[in-house]
Amino acid sequence: MYDLYLGGTHNYPVDRAFYESAVQICPFIPDLARHNRRFLQRAVQFTVNSGIRQFIDIGSGVPTVGNVHEVAHEIEPDTRVVYVDNDSEAVVTAQEILEDSAVATAIPADLRQPDVILDHPDTKRLINFDEPVGLLMVAVFHFVSPDANPHALLRSYLDRLAPGSYVALSHITVDDATPVAREQLENLERAYGSTSNPAYLRTRSEFTALFDGLEIVEPGVAYVSDWRNVQPADPHDPARPCGYAAVGRRL
Ligand SMILES: C[S@@+](CC[C@H](N)C(=O)[O-])C[C@H]1O[C@@H](n2cnc3c(N)ncnc32)[C@H](O)[C@@H]1O
Repeated sequence: MYDLYLGGTHNYPVDRAFYESAVQICPFIPDLARHNRRFLQRAVQFTVNSGIRQFIDIGSGVPTVGNVHEVAHEIEPDTRVVYVDNDSEAVVTAQEILEDSAVATAIPADLRQPDVILDHPDTKRLINFDEPVGLLMVAVFHFVSPDANPHALLRSYLDRLAPGSYVALSHITVDDATPVAREQLENLERAYGSTSNPAYLRTRSEFTALFDGLEIVEPGVAYVSDWRNVQPADPHDPARPCGYAAVGRRL
């Protein structure tokens, strides 16, 4: 679905059918996906420029142009990346693309099983847990239900990472949406509720609480479109206020 929102080619008829109805329900959803993808890329640039040389990208999705390792390697070619997704098709495609890479790989696993991800042989091969890590969970926590306790889940990752590690998160929201955009995104949330991947909108305070105990780097919690963006989105763009982003540093 996300690949379709971004205009990609790695998708299937079942996705395309849901995509058609998703865009009818919420016409600005592809714009929000593009804002989010650019946030991911700026967050990787920021983190590599802060000295991080290894990433775990959970909910990485179908590999598409401007992947984490491509963005990181423009700055530091030795940066190691472990991609993780619970969509086996996305992981198989990623493994094919990364077949010849010595510094990046993809594993099938669920965000809700931190030990499976952190103890996976490929993770242990590429990630040195004595050094800080860039943990990317971009546009994925909205697929984690309140019952799964997102805050405790994030802590169980951070407890295993060295001080100085960074975590980048983004999340859909309707806090500041226009009334029309709010209705459209809430209708889309309901539509996702009937799929195998229900999505949950969260408020600014719920999103910010995920960073408890971390130092949130400048500019703090921002719209995905605006986080460290020299060209923030058009203020009239309905997608602009519909995603929060922030990067935290483990102390
Ligand atoms: C909206 S895409 C985000 C892709 C990428 N992180 C980005 O922001 O450009 C969400 C991805 O998270 C994956 N996902 C959803 N729930 C997950 C879970 N519980 N564990 C691992 N991956 C999950 C989906 O399969 C999808 O590929």
